[in-house]
Amino acid sequence: MTDFSPLFQPFKLRGMEVKNRIAMAPMTRGRSPGGIPTPENAAYYRRRAENEVGLILSEGTLIRRRGAADNPNYPLFWSEEALAGWKRTIDEVHAAGGKMGPQLWHLGMSRKPGTGHFPDAPSDGPSGITLTGKKIGEEPSEAEVLDWAQAYADAAADAKRLGFDCIELHGAHAYLIDEFFWEVTNQRTDRFGGTIEKRAEFAAECIRRCRVAVGDLPIIIRISQWKSTDYNARVATTPQEMERWLKVLVDAGVDMIHCSQRRIWEAEFPEIDGEKGLNFAGWTKKLTGLPTMSVGSVGLTTEFTGAFRGEGSKAGNFDNAIERLAKGEYDMVAVGRAILQDPEWAKKVKAGDFHELMDYDAKAISNYF
Ligand SMILES: Cc1cc2nc3c(=O)[nH]c(=O)nc-3n(C[C@H](O)[C@H](O)[C@H](O)COP(=O)(O)O)c2cc1C
Repeated sequence: MTDFSPLFQPFKLRGMEVKNRIAMAPMTRGRSPGGIPTPENAAYYRRRAENEVGLILSEGTLIRRRGAADNPNYPLFWSEEALAGWKRTIDEVHAAGGKMGPQLWHLGMSRKPGTGHFPDAPSDGPSGITLTGKKIGEEPSEAEVLDWAQAYADAAADAKRLGFDCIELHGAHAYLIDEFFWEVTNQRTDRFGGTIEKRAEFAAECIRRCRVAVGDLPIIIRISQWKSTDYNARVATTPQEMERWLKVLVDAGVDMIHCSQRRIWEAEFPEIDGEKGLNFAGWTKKLTGLPTMSVGSVGLTTEFTGAFRGEGSKAGNFDNAIERLAKGEYDMVAVGRAILQDPEWAKKVKAGDFHELMDYDAKAISNYF
């Protein structure tokens, strides 16, 4: 019988004290008309905080670039009205005893041109190259790239002012920051392109500027090897390469790395330490010495991309995720669909009510509350 107590140990990151190791994974909702988070949005997050989710990472919320999104119902993290909606959200989460950070997001070239809050705005990307390698725009100047980094920092400053407990930079899944990491979309020859260290420099610039903006507030960055157009893509194919990539982020002053993978039990380099070897978060912790967060199909039997094709997933055991946590392979576990489906998921796990854990119903994506 698996011992679930490691999930319920407190965790401290800089000054942020989290009551357990469970994070709600960032999940886009598209329920903020015109980019403005509603009172319902605040209630949705409060419900998770009331039910033992230690740390809530918000759905991706947009930095102040007009071409940042492809859906006008994604929440903005700028403008007085949008920030008032976020202020309501963090106040409600705090009233319920929770901790929360916004996930700061820019879709980069993943955005379909002509969409979002400002359809006429151009998309931003390191080299004007799409995820399939097609050149559709000019390469921005270094000054423009620095302004994008500052846009993350401006949002970070607002997060601090509003009272959030941490921030997360969305540096995964082939969105803007990840497009700098990835050779396919980054063909620059200046300080932001070329070697893996240089491709990590944009993220480092964002982290350094965010640090100036937030002072002692924890900065988390979410990264992934996989891209939305290619699940086999990898930024780093060896631990040596991964170490070079991540060292740039560590040196820039990031506090925690959130390693996005689809199945938490999968080894990152099975050719080195076997099929049961360290996962992505495990290798990241080993190579950087930083705390890490892992994620991927916790409490469910199939991975999340099916959710976008209308597929559900059966509840399943997550002993392996707990065992890895207990061994110190990583420090926190993010849970996506299971908590989307059921706001009481963490509370049920704490109480040992496993028979009450629900299957993930594909309809949760449009029905969730
Ligand atoms: C509806 C939905 C929306 C998502 N939106 C985001 C997002 O805004 N930012 C992000 O980094 N990941 C996003 N993801 C990925 C999740 O954060 C998570 O990594 C993924 O669902 C795997 O966790 P799970 O298997 O526990 O669901 C989303 C996933 C789902 C199902």
